[in-house]
Amino acid sequence: MKLWEGRASAALDPAAEDFNSSLRVDVRMVRQDITGSLAHAAMLRKTGILSGEDEDAIRKGLTEILGELERGTLVPDPGAEDVHTFVEAELTRRVGDAGRRLHTARSRNDQVATDVRLYLRGEAAETCAALRRCAAVIARIAKENADAVMPGYTHLQRAQPVSFGHQLLAYAWMFLRDVSRLEDASARMNECPLGACALAGTTYPVDREMTAAALGFRGPVQNSIDAVSDRDFAIELASDLSILMMHLSRLSEEMILWSSWEFRFISLDDRYTTGSSIMPQKKNPDLCELIRGKTGRIYGDLMTLLTLMKGLPLAYNKDMQEDKEAVFDAFDTVKACLGVLEPMLDTMTVRREELRRAGAEGFINATDLADYLTAKGMPFRTAYRLVGQIVAECAASGEVLETLPMDRYRSYSDLFGEDLYGCIALETCMERRTSLGGTAPESVLRQAEEILCRCGGTGERD
Ligand code: ARG
Repeated sequence: MKLWEGRASAALDPAAEDFNSSLRVDVRMVRQDITGSLAHAAMLRKTGILSGEDEDAIRKGLTEILGELERGTLVPDPGAEDVHTFVEAELTRRVGDAGRRLHTARSRNDQVATDVRLYLRGEAAETCAALRRCAAVIARIAKENADAVMPGYTHLQRAQPVSFGHQLLAYAWMFLRDVSRLEDASARMNECPLGACALAGTTYPVDREMTAAALGFRGPVQNSIDAVSDRDFAIELASDLSILMMHLSRLSEEMILWSSWEFRFISLDDRYTTGSSIMPQKKNPDLCELIRGKTGRIYGDLMTLLTLMKGLPLAYNKDMQEDKEAVFDAFDTVKACLGVLEPMLDTMTVRREELRRAGAEGFINATDLADYLTAKGMPFRTAYRLVGQIVAECAASGEVLETLPMDRYRSYSDLFGEDLYGCIALETCMERRTSLGGTAPESVLRQAEEILCRCGGTGERD
């Protein structure tokens, strides 16, 4: 039995029916659908559109349906066209004509637009919570490794000494911006389409403010056509998720590099690595690779949504049924990625001696050596040139700046003195970068506390 059986003279072809159905995807919004219907029915009663008796029956029926679905004693009818149809049919089966009155002053168009917003509001909040947990774990690791010196890179070439904590905290700040983007999008999305009906509003004396408030929206969407036509909120959330995944992917890439034999900066816990079916020695960072790989999927979901919407005339078009699969997939995937990233970070071992070893190999204190000469009066550009020559000599003789003898230094300039070795020690180079946002351990500790404060946690997992 179809909603439109009054008009049609033949039943839908079974293959067409299956093609048309979205239940498989939208059944997960059943709680939101029922919540929306409860608010709608209460409004119909208050405005006198529906009798108290009918509303009582609807409320009782919907509450029962929800309870049974949650207990698993009711299974959604796979033949239903979508979740809205299923709930209405099930309600009508139970309460008769009252169920047939629920759809007064409503259309599936405003109904679905409301359900999706309610559902995505929850998904965005869960994603923000997961991001905050990851940022807190990072802050905890950063505190423990504020004084662990490593080479910072540009062009993947060793550049300057930085704190491992500083490097990791860069990602925590990115995650907090991801949170704020999702919160911004959620705030913009937080207007209620209910009462827009099919597209034009309704002749019934509905109270849209009432349903909006009951469902936690800031207020009703102001234009009924806009209310049922746009999916910009889904596109905006998918954009935010794409940016977020770009961040996760970069962190994953670094973790893959860092856990390689070439770097050896970290070691991932066995619970979060895999082996090879043939090479007994392998410990593979599969989960990091999967996070990096799944990033492409989120970009794909965003592209699906953008392309889906670009040519649609106002107002509702069935094309828009396809929005849910893409945006749900994006949230499912991001939440799964954050769900493994957090414990993987939490259990990884930071190999501080290896970080320092790599730091000592690449002349990353050359800038500090030039700064040393500059402090003694030499113009920076002259000092830069001279240090370049010293680096070339060291590279040729297998020496590093920390061990080059003083007589060699003095052959380049009389300005060099014994205090030089203290000035170019890697720890000193790191500690002296006390400028705001710099890599000095005290700055790292300050940042970590700030992140923990914003995330409302300690970064300790239980
Ligand atoms: N399942 C539909 C969707 O997800 C619900 C809205 C259907 N409206 C309609 N006029 N066919 O978009």
